[in-house]
Amino acid sequence: MDLTYELFCGKFRSLTGIDLASYKQGQMERRILAFISRTGTGGYLPLLKSMEHDSAKMKEFLDYMTINVSEFFRNPEKFDELRTRIFPAILATTRHPRIWSAGCAGGAEPYSMAIILDEIAPDARPEILATDIDATVLERARTGWFPPNETRNISEPRLSRHFTAERNGLVVSPKISGRVTFKKHNLLEDPYPVDCDLIVCRNVVIYFADGAKDRVYRGFWASLKTGGVLFVGGTETIFRSTEMGFALESAFMYKKVPTRATRIA
Ligand SMILES: C[S@@+](CC[C@H](N)C(=O)[O-])C[C@H]1O[C@@H](n2cnc3c(N)ncnc32)[C@H](O)[C@@H]1O
Repeated sequence: MDLTYELFCGKFRSLTGIDLASYKQGQMERRILAFISRTGTGGYLPLLKSMEHDSAKMKEFLDYMTINVSEFFRNPEKFDELRTRIFPAILATTRHPRIWSAGCAGGAEPYSMAIILDEIAPDARPEILATDIDATVLERARTGWFPPNETRNISEPRLSRHFTAERNGLVVSPKISGRVTFKKHNLLEDPYPVDCDLIVCRNVVIYFADGAKDRVYRGFWASLKTGGVLFVGGTETIFRSTEMGFALESAFMYKKVPTRATRIA
């Protein structure tokens, strides 16, 4: 007899440390069943057993489960807003801004920010941390190589300034790649960095169940400096944002405001 989805999640967590129960069940279950059928694995239990004994199978499953779609300057108008409004405001307070791209996939998002900061404040020393749960996609991010579908929004001047053509794709210059630090990090388990001026977390929590989403947003609030900004994806809304201590800055951008306790202190 096969395992239930709940038992599979428990055993998968013991095996990998990843808590699938924090992701939306319907979506996750459909995706796992599609993987089982596509690979002819036979069910939850055979899948677990094959992953226990075969690290390649485990890697194949994790690669399939993490949806790594991204591209440079995704939603270009929001990157224009970063360039014209958000970054100048942050740079007026510090020349050493701390920026966190959480769920960065192949790195297009943090590298887009590094390019903009290089244009508007070449003298600044930003610290750009880019994290993801998926070690494979981080390996590619560190190489700086991107396939054509991730680079289509890059303007001609930026292409000639920061990229070279290689292996049917583009490689970002060492000057830009050297500004981003990639690190494996699970938003549902690992401690968060502190004192961030900007957190960008787009198209990641859409896969999380409501309770997990709430925990992540509260964690981001704690990670931001007062006045720091959280930038979310183009389909994402933070429910009860005011109660959490965020004020809407503009569409998909939230600013950390002090809690009542902090204000009184
Ligand atoms: C659709 S991509 C988003 C990439 C980029 N932020 C963007 O919007 O273009 C979602 C990323 O979230 C990552 N992810 C999923 N669950 C995660 C978790 N628990 N902790 C950290 N990253 C996670 C996936 O590995 C994937 O690379």
